[in-house]
Amino acid sequence: MNREEAFELLKKYVKTDSLIKHSLAVESSMIAYANEFNEDVEEWSICGLLHDIDFEMYPDEHPYRGLEILRENGFSEEFIAAVKGHAVKDAPRETLMAKTLFAVDELSSFAIACALVRPTKLEGMKAKSVKKKFKAKSFAAAVDRDLIRESADQLGVDMNEHLNIVIKGLQNREKELNKEGLSLV
Ligand SMILES: [Fe+2]
Ligand SMILES: [Fe+2]
Repeated sequence: MNREEAFELLKKYVKTDSLIKHSLAVESSMIAYANEFNEDVEEWSICGLLHDIDFEMYPDEHPYRGLEILRENGFSEEFIAAVKGHAVKDAPRETLMAKTLFAVDELSSFAIACALVRPTKLEGMKAKSVKKKFKAKSFAAAVDRDLIRESADQLGVDMNEHLNIVIKGLQNREKELNKEGLSLV
């Protein structure tokens, strides 16, 4: 399955704008990390795109319904394990793809929340300002800061570097998406 087919598959299961945007944001971060680690950009992109495919229709069965959907569509067990790893706390995250997905899931949404309160949105956003919001407990209070730190540790990246990669990834991708009439914000 290529990226366009994966996006069509996603849209069969996800209709709300917010979850489409979250999926695109996580995809953007996965693309950034695939480039960083010299991994398969399209596979990592699709992994980000489809990780929450079941969340809208089967929130109580997340991620298990999603794993079934992916299996039916011929995805590899390694790919499926990575998707499982982002949502099942004690599932093993053995591959770089699994560790990366786990590390960028919440952070991508957090960075977008930061962008939404800036007049220029993602444009010109710096890691420093996202870090500041990180410390402001009342901002996006539902986001688990400890989980973000822990998952970055498991990936073995320094928090500043992690923020830089994710923010750059979102900024780059936003420009491309805008050309297709889509946006992360
Ligand atoms: Fe999820
Ligand atoms: Fe997610």
